[in-house]
Amino acid sequence: MARIAVLGSGSGSNFQSLYETFGDKIVLVISDQPGAGILEKARRAGIPAVVEKGGFDLCARILDHLEGIDLVCLAGFMRLVKEPLLSAFPHRILNIHPSLLPKYPGLGAWEQAVLDEASESGCTVHYVDAGMDTGEVILQAEVPVLPGDTPESLHERIQVEEHRIYPLAVKSCLARITDEV
Ligand code: GAR
Repeated sequence: MARIAVLGSGSGSNFQSLYETFGDKIVLVISDQPGAGILEKARRAGIPAVVEKGGFDLCARILDHLEGIDLVCLAGFMRLVKEPLLSAFPHRILNIHPSLLPKYPGLGAWEQAVLDEASESGCTVHYVDAGMDTGEVILQAEVPVLPGDTPESLHERIQVEEHRIYPLAVKSCLARITDEV
């Protein structure tokens, strides 16, 4: 059975939607934020939840936990993934980002869309490379920006789509990985 690790810094709603789809394939959660909701959600699900605070060697310390892991899913992980983690999981680290990349990379993508008076935004699941939200796109979903939207109301609707497409993208990656082995 494939083994998935989820990395996150926030409330963990994307972790929750992955957990609801993949259940005990998710074997580990790592957060850089000791108070993050994702840790609490993982512990409630009986999944080992580890804290690794930032620092120059964060990615090396994270990698130390990933023996036997097939796929790494970033779910609101607010740090750049660097070596040696990147090379250890080629095409096996996924991220969900709250915009239609390449539009609005980086932080506060939903705020940028509202400030820009964009007519639509959305979310993207992509492979992670060394850049900031630059890796190959796997799946995207559009979300209209409505008149009167605040950053918060837009983000709420984007998250509904995130919770729908992230499991779909993970499923297709797991199928590829299973074919490879
Ligand atoms: C999600 O909207 C995700 O797309 C975003 O953080 C939120 C985490 O929510 N990620 C980024 O902005 C990464 N650049 P969650 O903790 O409820 O899953």
